[in-house]
Amino acid sequence: MTLNNTIEIDIVKASSSKIASVDFENLTFGNIFTDHMLICDFKDGVWQKPIITPYEPFLIDPSAKVFHYGQAIFEGMKAYKDDNDDVWLFRPDENFKRFNKSAKRMAMPEVPENVFIEGLKTVVDLDREWVKKGLGNTLYLRPFMIATGHGVIAQPSSEYRFMIILSPAKSYYSGEVKVIIAEHYSRAANGGIGAAKAAGNYSAQFYPTKLANEKGYQQIIWTDDATHTKLEEAGTMNVFIRINDTLFTAPTSERILDGVTRKSLIELAQRDGLNVEVRSVLVEELVNAAKDGSLKEIFGAGTAAVVSPIVAFAYQGTEYQLPQIENSFALQLKEDLTKIQYKLAEDTFGWTVKV
Ligand code: COI
Repeated sequence: MTLNNTIEIDIVKASSSKIASVDFENLTFGNIFTDHMLICDFKDGVWQKPIITPYEPFLIDPSAKVFHYGQAIFEGMKAYKDDNDDVWLFRPDENFKRFNKSAKRMAMPEVPENVFIEGLKTVVDLDREWVKKGLGNTLYLRPFMIATGHGVIAQPSSEYRFMIILSPAKSYYSGEVKVIIAEHYSRAANGGIGAAKAAGNYSAQFYPTKLANEKGYQQIIWTDDATHTKLEEAGTMNVFIRINDTLFTAPTSERILDGVTRKSLIELAQRDGLNVEVRSVLVEELVNAAKDGSLKEIFGAGTAAVVSPIVAFAYQGTEYQLPQIENSFALQLKEDLTKIQYKLAEDTFGWTVKV
């Protein structure tokens, strides 16, 4: 199936909209959902006709494999509104490809391209009033798939549900972001599911992140599980480190998510003539750079987080502050990226797709 194959989607519209009750100026990330959602079920070995219904809870068998074995994957994307009231998606093809890579790794069926892409466009179009104009206003799109087949035998389900839900969003982090460098816990290991956007990759981080939160840190920068010497990603975002005027980010691997924002920032940095190197930075290098003043910036990059500057990191009980700098690469790249997303700058890369 190709992108241009339109599909038939049954639509049951909500009888009324909740939009008037939403305070768009004071949104908590991922807490409010729009009027509609898309559902496409997989059974008897085939994808059924997608439907869009009012957003509401649904029934699921208590023995469904998603509850017992965590067979679940998701994507994070955003829609943006430009000054002409047109609504845009950002690189949806990348999310689609990654979704099916995750599906394969989790022994789930791949979702047809037109169900994913046309499904997204149709449900976003139906709820386009929920995409507000203005930099920082977005509609966060959450395609996901769960194993709905019943029975607690530990093997892949034979039935699945693909869904898309939508949530108006501003920033993911509301204050300053400080991180701890992982010394004991690991997010992922070679041969594991670290490169998949699998639900379990996120819940596995909840406990160590809770311990970090209790110490006043919002996130953990994960290190390689074998030696804890190489910096990897932060779980909700990939990580960039600037030492003097070189920007480093770890290469993607079996342990690191291939972030769409990460790859876009690398291309933007190259376009801007910044020196960007895709290689692992050692924890030792980071600490030495913090001590000798060559460490200029650390920032996270992700769909939800966008570009989030990190103000301090802790390692082996010592906290290191990042300096205040004038020509921040994080701010420059954030501006480059958001100008394209909101159609305020020409999209020479062909990343934006109209709804
Ligand atoms: C995203 O950036 O969309 C993610 O999937 C991270 C998530 C934890 C909010």
